[in-house]
Amino acid sequence: MIVYLNGRFLPREEAHLSPEDRGFLFADAIYEVVRYGGGHPYRLGEHLERMRDGLTAIRIAADPQFFPPVASRLLAENGLEKDDALVYAQVSRGAAPRYHAFPPEGTPPTIFAFARRTDPAPPAEGGRAILVPDERWGRCDVKSVMLLANVLASQKAREAGAIEAVLVRDGIAWEGTKSNLFARVGRVLRTAPRGPRILPGVTRAATLEAAAALGESIEERPISIEELFSADEVFLASTTLWTYPVVEIDGRRIGDGRPGPLATRLKETLQAEFHGARAGLAT
Ligand code: PDD
Repeated sequence: MIVYLNGRFLPREEAHLSPEDRGFLFADAIYEVVRYGGGHPYRLGEHLERMRDGLTAIRIAADPQFFPPVASRLLAENGLEKDDALVYAQVSRGAAPRYHAFPPEGTPPTIFAFARRTDPAPPAEGGRAILVPDERWGRCDVKSVMLLANVLASQKAREAGAIEAVLVRDGIAWEGTKSNLFARVGRVLRTAPRGPRILPGVTRAATLEAAAALGESIEERPISIEELFSADEVFLASTTLWTYPVVEIDGRRIGDGRPGPLATRLKETLQAEFHGARAGLAT
């Protein structure tokens, strides 16, 4: 596997980071995950915009424009140009002796990226989720690598045989550990509004657009746990999952316990948009 590190493409085994990298010491870094299909990115502009917002929020001076050529070369180097792949990129504040405040002016950011094939799609019959207290920091809109709360919640989900942990704070089901959350409650498609409690998912935005185009009533308003359990349909949205039905939460059936029609329809719509864009680009 060939990875990218600070301007070089090299075998993963030869990519070495300083133990004083601030990404390692302080989780002082942001990241992105972009889907590619046949060498073409899905909604790259939105991912780059979010990366720019994240870098600005945490005051790292780096230009997200490094990403497109690096991603293309990673796909080529790893023979993934024709596949469905994910490209991960991380930008940290660089390596410097351990002081909390920023390192000396001119310390270059560390930029690391790799590409890999997407995982097989999860079972079509939908997945189970569990509710877990949301113990994350106050800026969940920044795609920071500081994911310890997500890691612990995600492990709880795995141990419970669930696909995702839904993070709950103040009685609100905000989002998953690595996905946004949607629920169809009383004929209205609901998802938490943008703000510090959720990551503004690229798939979330695409899902809202697609749902509006299908004529759905939409409200970006926090979903209480009670509303979640009373929903006809619940689904997750992310780069890796597209939209994916949740059929059971904490052992309680959602709707009739089968994947809802809207999640399926939306997934088809998003995938069609992607294939259409790729076909358009190819001509
Ligand atoms: N996770 N919410 C959280 C907390 C996330 O980590 C993610 C993405 C999303 C969905 O965002 P998007 O649609 O832009 O992928 C929502 C990525 C895939 C990850 O951490 O691997």
